[in-house]
This record gives sequence, structure tokens and C-alpha cells, in this order.
Amino acid sequence: MPRILITGCSSGFGQAIAARFLDQGWEVIATMRRPSAKGLPASDRLRVLPLDVTDPESITSAIAKAGQINALVNNAGVGMLNVLEGAEITKARDLFEINVLGAMAMTRAVMPAMRERQTGVIVNISSSVTLRPLPALSIYTASKAALNAFTESFALEAAEFGVRARLVLPGRAKATSFGKNAVARMGMDIPEAYGLFVQAYFQSLQSVTEKTEVSDVAQAVWRAVTDEAAPMKLPAGTDAETWFREEGIPVE
Ligand SMILES: NC(=O)c1ccc[n+]([C@@H]2O[C@H](COP(=O)([O-])OP(=O)(O)OC[C@H]3O[C@@H](n4cnc5c(N)ncnc54)[C@H](OP(=O)(O)O)[C@@H]3O)[C@@H](O)[C@H]2O)c1
Repeated sequence: MPRILITGCSSGFGQAIAARFLDQGWEVIATMRRPSAKGLPASDRLRVLPLDVTDPESITSAIAKAGQINALVNNAGVGMLNVLEGAEITKARDLFEINVLGAMAMTRAVMPAMRERQTGVIVNISSSVTLRPLPALSIYTASKAALNAFTESFALEAAEFGVRARLVLPGRAKATSFGKNAVARMGMDIPEAYGLFVQAYFQSLQSVTEKTEVSDVAQAVWRAVTDEAAPMKLPAGTDAETWFREEGIPVE
């Protein structure tokens, strides 16, 4: 039975991805900072393990307990909604630790065993915001653009050993705790000088009707893991698909 390890399964996309793979008969290792099976389907193929992707000891321990895995999904991530002047650099550093270095460290931790076995797949959850410049998202977008660049370059090394790396770019999903968690962890102290500009931008988002469902992300990850011919970047959500097309990237 194939086994997948997913980071950031306490909510949102992580839970939906875990549910999808359980549904397909996979063994699922759902990892999270504070372990709880809440929100995950009951199954004897589900294991919940503690994992903080910024803590090297936590990574070593989770990988040792997980045993042989066929797929890794780097889903753990945090957002930041602010203009540069409103964002503390210590917070930006924390965000990069999770969104970029956390994914690199997890990839590095699973790679020796995948390389030895000459098989495996690593899927990194990026974002459709990397497809175009947007205000009040510069730091978050930079972190996901770094994740894209890392994944595309790493994929060339990994392919030498039969290991695949892919990116899933979800659009905007309101059903997850992403916005709430971003504000709670990164703050949202917009400087007064930018107030009207940011307010007008947020207002413009209200008219957008296309959105991403958690099931769209689970489906894109399923395809990235199981379809060897899947493209490097997969959109998740109708809004992400529209942006792919507008940027001239074929949606296969
Ligand atoms: N929602 C969207 O609109 C959207 C769009 C595009 C891309 N994304 C990306 O999709 C991924 C999942 O987001 P989501 O919408 O499902 O948001 P979410 O509900 O906030 O889930 C984020 C997950 O990441 C975990 N996490 C944060 N820091 C961690 C750390 N140091 N170690 C391990 N886990 C950590 C959180 O766990 P805790 O409960 O422990 O904090 C949570 O389980 C993220 O990478 C995000 O950037 C989201």
C-alpha cells in the first residue's frame, strides 16, 4: 500500500489532501504542530504525527517514525497580508522559515531514501499569486516564488534518481483558516499612508466570483502524485486556471 506524508494537516488543504488519499486506499501520515485527528476521516490507514517544519529535531523524529514513504506534500504554510512598510522583517523571516526553508528541509529529509529506492514524488503547495504582481502580498508572494524556483531546479537533480517534484498553485480559497491564521501569526498593521490604497484593493477583490475549493487542491495533488506525465505546475481552482490561461500557460 503506498504511503504519503503531508505537512500542515491541522486544517484547510492539508486535511482535504489527507482525506482524498485515504479515500483512494493510501496510508496517510498527517503531520501537524499539535497532533489531533480532529477534522480527519477515521481510518486504520491514518497516522497523525507531530511535526514543525521549522524544527530540525521534529523533522528527524517524524521522518524516522513515518518509515518508507512514496510521496511527500509540503503543504504547511502561512500568509502575510501587508505592504512592505507594514511588515516586520522578523515576521518575514519567520514566514520564509516555514514556506521556503521548511519545504527544503522536508525535501532534504525524505530524499536519501527516495534516491536509494529510485522512486518517489514531492509536491510543493505554492500559490497562483506567483503568476502576477499583487499589492499587499509582496513578502508572501516572494516566498512562494522562491518555492517555485527551488522546486523547478531541484526537480532536475531529483529526476536523475527517478524522483519527481511538482508544484500545485491554488487560487484563493475562503473555506480554509488561511486568512485568519495569517493575521493571527503575521499581524496586519497597514500603515496609515497606504490605508486607502489597500482598502481599494481589498474592495476590488469582492467582485471576484471564481474561487478555489479545498477539493480542487486535493484533486491537483492527487494528479501530481499519481500522473507521471503531469506538468511541473498544476493549477487548483477555477480562478487559478483562469490566471494560468491569461498568463499563456496551458491548462492540460
Ligand atoms: N487558502 C488559500 O487561499 C491559499 C491559496 C494558495 C495557496 N495556499 C497555500 O496552501 C497551503 C495550505 O494553506 P491553507 O489554506 O490550508 O491554510 P491553513 O488552514 O492556515 O493551513 C496551514 C497549515 O500549515 C500549518 N503550519 C503553519 N506553520 C507550520 C509549521 N511551522 N510547521 C508545520 N505546520 C505548519 C498550520 O498548522 P498550525 O495549525 O499548527 O498553525 C496549518 O495546518 C499553504 O502553503 C498556503 O500558503 C493557500
